[in-house]
Amino acid sequence: MLILGIETSCDETSVAIVLNGTEVLSNCTISSQKAFARHGGVIPEEAARKQVECIVAITESALAGADVSMSEIDAIAVTKGPGLLGSLLVGTTAARTLASLYSKPLIGVHHTLGHLSSTWLEAESEPEFPCLTLSASGGHTDLWYRQSHTTGALIGRTRDDAAGEAFDKGASMLGLPYPGGPSISKAAEDGDVSAYTFPKPLSGEDGFDYSFSGLKTALKYTIRDEQESLDSRISDLAASYQHALCMHLVSKLKKAANEYSDAKEIHLVGGVSANSHLRELVQSEIPQVGLRCPRKISFCTDNAAMICSAAYFLVQEKGDGAYERFETTASLPLAKI
Ligand code: KG4
Ligand code: ZN
Repeated sequence: MLILGIETSCDETSVAIVLNGTEVLSNCTISSQKAFARHGGVIPEEAARKQVECIVAITESALAGADVSMSEIDAIAVTKGPGLLGSLLVGTTAARTLASLYSKPLIGVHHTLGHLSSTWLEAESEPEFPCLTLSASGGHTDLWYRQSHTTGALIGRTRDDAAGEAFDKGASMLGLPYPGGPSISKAAEDGDVSAYTFPKPLSGEDGFDYSFSGLKTALKYTIRDEQESLDSRISDLAASYQHALCMHLVSKLKKAANEYSDAKEIHLVGGVSANSHLRELVQSEIPQVGLRCPRKISFCTDNAAMICSAAYFLVQEKGDGAYERFETTASLPLAKI
């Protein structure tokens, strides 16, 4: 099944063509992140305007890159939410128009389900279920216990900021550019992870929820206290803060791996899964369970290939239910998949 997918939930415009949920024939992504680097975050109207400007060209590039024509496409998939409403509307309008003009079935995909499917893109081996999946991005931090590609239960989530948001806000406080994850990671390369001690959020609590606002506040006060010598302390601060964020993510994952001891694999997905310190910590702290991450960094951050993959599995597992009519919505809770 050849699917053309469109993802425009945040500041990316991405169009991909994927065969049978795994073989990526093309995955063309343009990001307006650079334009927002100075602002420390996305300006929604500006992001949507840029997406209107480039959606047609990106779609043409994806078709040319895959060397296929619209007549060969079996279905169109698109992110229906959650995300920035203006941005989502650019993608869903393009998808609805293509589906109507070329008489193709249309599949609306929840953005998080896209991230959950990203580990199957170009994967060398079949996944084994049940598995635990940590999905951490700029908009959500969710821990899933999954029975199949499209079924599972949400067992933990953030109570305040998302992990990626904590990276982005931390970077902004440290004077590092947006997006914060890659810039903190880079600044941390020469830093000492134990130079500063940060609190361990929710450590005394049962369950698998996350909280990042305390870490962010601790960073704010540490920066205030270090104001005089801040320039020379950036890499140590970045390394210690990154370590604290990652240890918080890993500690709950470790607890879940003990409780859900039948989980055969651990998956890290979403923009934050690009973080190599996080990947190393999962491997060293939870060596008993195999780790699976997206095969490329471009599959960790927002991309349309993962939307194609999720759409494929929706068709496999839900049949005609995959083609249900859908609304484009900025807020789209997903407690069960
Ligand atoms: O999944 P994604 O591309 O978009 C959302 O759905 O939000 O994730 C973007 C987030 C940003 O907050 C960014 O700072 C973070 O992922 N991120 C990283 C890294 N690369 C991107 N966080 C930590 N380490 C990275 N290497
Ligand atoms: Zn995302």
